[in-house]
Amino acid sequence: MAANPKKLRSKLHLLFHVIFIARVEAFSLTNCTVSGALNDTRVLKVLCYKMGFRTVPSPIPSKVRHLDMSFNSIFQIRVGDFDDLENLRNLNLSSSKISWIQDGTMKHFPNLINLNLANNHLESVSSDLLRGLANLQVLRLDANTIQSIDTYAFTGLKNLRVLNLTGNNLRQISNVKPVLAAPRLEELYVAKNGFDAFDSGNLSKTPLLLKTIDLSYNPLTRFQITDNIFPNLDFLDISYCGQDRKMLWNLTDKTFLNSVKTLNLSAVHFPEDDLITVLQEVHWASLLKLKLNNLKRMNVGTLLQYACLPGLDVLRMHHNRISNLTADMLERCSNLTELDFGENEISQISAPIFKEVTQLQVLRLQINKLSRVNDLFRNLPVLKIIDLSRNRISALTCSDFANLTQLNTLYLYSNRISNLPSCIFKEMNKLEILKLGSNKLLTIGTAFKNDLPFLKVLEIPFNKLSKIHKDTFMGLSGLQTLHLGDNQISEIEDQAFSRLQNLTHLSLSSNRITDKTIKDPAVFSGMPNLRSLDLFSNVISYFHDTLKMPPFSLLSSLEILAIHSQRHGIGKLPSNLLQGLTSLKMFYGGNMNLNRLHPNTFNSTPKLYFLDLSKNTFTAEASITAEVFHPVPRLTKLIISRVQIRSLNFLLKANLSRLSVLKAPENTLDIINMMLIQSLSPLKYLDLRKNTFTCDCSNAFFINWALSSNYTQVIYLNQYTCSYPPSLEGKSILDLNTESCNVNVGFVMFVCSSVLVIATLLVSFIYQFLRWQVLYAYYLFVAFLYDSSQKKKQQQNSFKYDAFISYNTQDEAWVAEELLPHLEGEQGWRLCLHHRDFELGRPIIENIMDGIYNSRKTICLITYDYLMSTWCSKEIQMATFRLFDEQKDVLILIFLEDIPTHQLSPYHRMRQLVKKKTYLKWPKRGEDTRVFWQKLRIALETKEGPEEEKALLSGQEKPDC
Ligand SMILES: *[C@@H]1O[C@H](CO)[C@@H](O)[C@H](O)[C@H]1NC(C)=O
Ligand SMILES: *[C@@H]1O[C@H](CO)[C@@H](O)[C@H](O)[C@H]1NC(C)=O
Ligand SMILES: *[C@@H]1O[C@H](CO)[C@@H](O)[C@H](O)[C@H]1NC(C)=O
Ligand SMILES: *[C@@H]1O[C@H](CO)[C@@H](O)[C@H](O)[C@H]1NC(C)=O
Repeated sequence: MAANPKKLRSKLHLLFHVIFIARVEAFSLTNCTVSGALNDTRVLKVLCYKMGFRTVPSPIPSKVRHLDMSFNSIFQIRVGDFDDLENLRNLNLSSSKISWIQDGTMKHFPNLINLNLANNHLESVSSDLLRGLANLQVLRLDANTIQSIDTYAFTGLKNLRVLNLTGNNLRQISNVKPVLAAPRLEELYVAKNGFDAFDSGNLSKTPLLLKTIDLSYNPLTRFQITDNIFPNLDFLDISYCGQDRKMLWNLTDKTFLNSVKTLNLSAVHFPEDDLITVLQEVHWASLLKLKLNNLKRMNVGTLLQYACLPGLDVLRMHHNRISNLTADMLERCSNLTELDFGENEISQISAPIFKEVTQLQVLRLQINKLSRVNDLFRNLPVLKIIDLSRNRISALTCSDFANLTQLNTLYLYSNRISNLPSCIFKEMNKLEILKLGSNKLLTIGTAFKNDLPFLKVLEIPFNKLSKIHKDTFMGLSGLQTLHLGDNQISEIEDQAFSRLQNLTHLSLSSNRITDKTIKDPAVFSGMPNLRSLDLFSNVISYFHDTLKMPPFSLLSSLEILAIHSQRHGIGKLPSNLLQGLTSLKMFYGGNMNLNRLHPNTFNSTPKLYFLDLSKNTFTAEASITAEVFHPVPRLTKLIISRVQIRSLNFLLKANLSRLSVLKAPENTLDIINMMLIQSLSPLKYLDLRKNTFTCDCSNAFFINWALSSNYTQVIYLNQYTCSYPPSLEGKSILDLNTESCNVNVGFVMFVCSSVLVIATLLVSFIYQFLRWQVLYAYYLFVAFLYDSSQKKKQQQNSFKYDAFISYNTQDEAWVAEELLPHLEGEQGWRLCLHHRDFELGRPIIENIMDGIYNSRKTICLITYDYLMSTWCSKEIQMATFRLFDEQKDVLILIFLEDIPTHQLSPYHRMRQLVKKKTYLKWPKRGEDTRVFWQKLRIALETKEGPEEEKALLSGQEKPDC
């Protein structure tokens, strides 16, 4: 373990993480994205679609409300694949090749409202498949291969309202019967099931609650209702039904369908007469909307005669190859409010045709072959919406839309219009939406100088406009959205957008606008409320670091600026380009071949919260610095995908305390360190796909954090692959065994704490039981130091004393009465006695050491008390140390009391000395003391000790006294 404190700290942190937070819920669900906080029961969404899952991923956050696992390859689902998801409301398991779901699985979702199992391979609905879904309201089983439904499969679905069984293999309408056990069923979709007959008796004989039934695309030979089972039916679709142009229609009572409001009879295989009979004879009392698309073989004139039933509101007749609308065709359709003739071949319309339909509000003529409008609509005073898109109209005249004073919406896109007469929209005072895209306009002219005060949306993209003149839109004071993208605009005059007081969105994308076009801020004057400006895909480029006139300085309300994808690259982003954009919140600056960001770029945009700089080239070191972000502390979402950065360390000091989304995929990031992760603590989403990760312990923290964080979601983590070391190239970074990184830390931790614990125990033990020994050791050490320093001095100097006397205070009397008179008085030795010769005020230990070192010999007066006395023992220690060092016999032991050798055992060294008989014994009371004094004199006179004693004291034995 290298002594890198940061690393160590990170690993310690990690360890704690692993230990203490281990199985808290996290976002580590592989391949899924989670939106919403993990604890937010209201919105928590887990999205796992199109991820190649072969099993149900886990663990799914337990509070999930919406779970989408569509477009995978799950094949089979077992009860154990899911945990209880009590909060789940929507479950999408569509398009996942599911052929089997174990009974009981649905009990995990007691509160499910929406279940989508569409587009799988289910073959039947067993009695227990749906058991437990008492709250289910919408069930999609469409596009499976269901052949049978168990009689009791739907009995528990008390709240089911909508059931989609379209596109299965049910074959007989009686096979659908079990679904009616769901008591609230309102909408039943059973299109494309291969039914060859619909017989009401096979479904029910009693009235049903059904409001919607879709039987379309079934090859019915018979449509027969013999009981009033549909008293509530609103919507009936039998389009594309029948075989061989024949379908027997048999209603035993003509009023059976009198509640139907919407009827789709498109492409039914009826002979024309039968269709007319159906329209004519059935009692369609409530019918409002009728669809008669794709009845190509029938005569439109005849159809229209019978189709325009008295109460009918809306009639649609797409794909009927109608080419000609003649004068009396709509004679009977006077009540229609919407007429849809889209996708026909209409090139001719006789104006009087609309004379009768005076209520008409919506007229749809899209995808036809009209080349002129003429004054077709002059008889339609209440018309609100006209769709003339995708025709061949090339010229418009002033009378074309005259009188359409109520018109709200006009679609003229995808025609061949090259010119807008100035009078053309003159009367349309209520016009709100006008779409003129994909035409051939070279210029807008003066059409919008007239007042169209209610126009809110004007779209003129995909034309050939090249210049926008001053005051072009001055009549459009109510305009909110102006779309001029995909033209060839290279010139915009000052005041071009004047008087657009209410304009909030202006698109000028994909034109030929250059930096010169917008050089003067006056180009954008007159739009005080502009919120969003699109300038992407133009040819703006800059070469200077600052601009004389920042182009957007008048747009103080602008919130969104999209300037990305300049075709020749923007070159530089001038440091004051955004000056004046004090409300700017979103900036799209990707794909401009930008390679540096000036630190002042965002100085004027303190509200910026979204920044997209992807697909630029920030290869160079310091092309983005932390300073760039200092003026934008509210930045929440940063997108820097494909910008060739190698490190995110510029974010360390960026102080982005609100950054919650960071997308940096497709870069060459290799290590995400702990510092970075910590500096990005507010992150909710982190996307680092397709980077070049190093797979070693330097990323262990990142990986573990990504797996365990319950706040930050590292998106598609298991798609991240290693680029280094070569042996792991292409492997998932999750294959990296971070355990081994942890184990090291753990081991070190273990060792450290063990050592710590043992040391603590030892210290307290020593303190408790051995404190004096330790103290001796200390003094011994001091003595050693002292000894070495004294050695040199002593070599020259003679001793101050002949003997240092070490004794216990209780023996002071003996010293004074016996020892002193004999040794100093009679024999004339100089003695060192501590009560007499010690310097006052010096530490006692220094005095003792001085005494010993300044004396040739040390005499210890041994008694029980002496042995117990700590100070005396210390003196012996030091004396023996000197002996040990100098290999000289300096110690004389005098036993004043009889102490058996075995009692000396705690004083090990002394026992050794005693055993070697290098001691004197004070005679017992009454015995002669002369021999004693004589021996002592000899001892004091000797310079060298006996050989054995030297050996003994030279440390062959451990000095453990
Ligand atoms: C979720 O947790 C976060 C922090 O743990 C907390 O601030 C937030 O209020 C919680 N939200 C809900 C809905 O409980
Ligand atoms: C995750 O997605 C990738 C690619 O979409 C896929 O190859 C992989 O099998 C998925 N992982 C899991 C666990 O299903
Ligand atoms: C029913 O299923 C069909 C076929 O999959 C689909 O097109 C249709 O939108 C579905 N309708 C409803 C209401 O779910
Ligand atoms: C219509 O159905 C009834 C009852 O099943 C039957 O009696 C009658 O013959 C049928 N009519 C036609 C024309 O098939």
